[in-house]
Amino acid sequence: MNKNIVCIGAGYIGGPTMAVIAKMNPDRRVIVVDINKERIAAWNSKDFNLPIYEPGLVEIVKEVRGRNLFFSTDIKKAVRDCDIVFVGVNTPTKMFGKGAGRASDLQYWEATARNIKDWAKCPKVVVEKSTLPVRTAAAMDAILNSEVKVRGESERRMFTVLSNPEFLAEGTAIKDLLDPDRVLIGGPQDTPGQAAVQAVVDIYLGAAGNWVPRTRILTTNVWSAELTKLAANAFLAQRVSSINAIAGLCEATGADVDEVAQVIGADKRIGPKFLKAGPGFGGSCFKKDVLNLVYLCETFGLHTAAEYWMGVIKMNDHQQERIVSRLFKEMFNTLANKKIALFGFAFKADTGDTRETPAGTVARLLADEHVNLTITDPKALGNAKNDLRDLKGVVYEIDPYKAAKGADAVVLMTDWALYPTLDWAKIYATMRKPATVFDTRNCLDATNLRKLGFRVLNIGK
Ligand code: UDX
Ligand code: ADP
Repeated sequence: MNKNIVCIGAGYIGGPTMAVIAKMNPDRRVIVVDINKERIAAWNSKDFNLPIYEPGLVEIVKEVRGRNLFFSTDIKKAVRDCDIVFVGVNTPTKMFGKGAGRASDLQYWEATARNIKDWAKCPKVVVEKSTLPVRTAAAMDAILNSEVKVRGESERRMFTVLSNPEFLAEGTAIKDLLDPDRVLIGGPQDTPGQAAVQAVVDIYLGAAGNWVPRTRILTTNVWSAELTKLAANAFLAQRVSSINAIAGLCEATGADVDEVAQVIGADKRIGPKFLKAGPGFGGSCFKKDVLNLVYLCETFGLHTAAEYWMGVIKMNDHQQERIVSRLFKEMFNTLANKKIALFGFAFKADTGDTRETPAGTVARLLADEHVNLTITDPKALGNAKNDLRDLKGVVYEIDPYKAAKGADAVVLMTDWALYPTLDWAKIYATMRKPATVFDTRNCLDATNLRKLGFRVLNIGK
């Protein structure tokens, strides 16, 4: 059996996933391809200046690149030479026409399906990795299997389409891949479908059979796998919105949201994770997946369910508006010409990713108030500059001490481990008084900050 694997799309999903697949399957050749030449050049760079930052990623790429992991722009050749194709191209929210602002834009994905069809010379297993709205595997199946039949075997499908949604979280991607809670593979229930599922199960078992335990590899039909991905992310997003909704009530009534969350999480039925109040969720998946779910519900006439899930997004947007209005109130109802330093711009710690970051929304709301904005972040300054390129006068500063110099307020947006370790007395000394810290992640020692002289704001306290 040809053991080559190709992954189309060398992004946040394709890159790390294939690096770990190559590590755990040294007997297979894994090729990651992309239309973006710069991205591929970065993956191939001599000094391992990779296009994305993930703890532990560079070490694995150093181990496997050139051994059995390769990055290339020759998509045609790679597709022709393999028998399993993973598709990890981006499916951003559609911004035009039907379903605008809700549905996924599938144009990149459809182009990929058509290319695979045109280039393939032998039967292939095609595995969806991108988050796709439910039932797109059927569309992919229809495109791929139109006009093509395996010579002499008219009954046999040329392509078998599976869904293998990715559950990795950024910042812990390598850990999540090496030791996943579960791997989900959805496939057709017929014999060739089940053979294709087994081929992908074998990849996750690893060459030595010691990667993912078989009991954690769950197989379902294709539709269940696709819907599970959306539902799982919607449940997680909903938890964040739920605790943030409680946070507002805590601020109004004098309760402490961290205490409330701790007690709620002690109930084994609920569990302690994903109950941290903060500036709201960001990242490429949560908003997009919840919006997809809303769109699906609307499509099937389930309007109350659509409204329910839309509430998760509304609550999230409200959280960022609330942060700015509290700051406004705290700073004597005017922010114009005050200097505010945003500590952190990434949507969470340990990533340089800024897609849908709450810090972006807060920065724009502050700019509307004519704030002099300085942004600092250890990994995301490049992306921040690009995201806010239309805003004039924003200062980008890697050094948090310099960023805070002369500021009226520091607004901590990202829970980087670095921030609680800073010398806050030194920061206080250089700020304009009264000096305010708004810790939207509740990760600083508020008692100590108050002792130093800061006015301190928290979420849910
Ligand atoms: C998420 C899912 O966790 C992952 O399974 C899926 O494959 C992709 O989407 P990711 O977006 O990388 O992963 O980050 P995640 O750690 O889930 O955090 C999402 C957002 O929620 C972040 O902005 C984070 O700061 C926020 N969050 C998370 C909270 O505000 N409170 C919490 O308790 C947890
Ligand atoms: P994700 O978070 O889903 O991995 P990214 O945007 O990080 O999303 O990565 C998706 C990658 O897919 C990008 O590098 C993009 O250039 C690539 N891509 C999009 N369309 C195609 C295509 N038709 N062929 C090959 N690569 C593609």
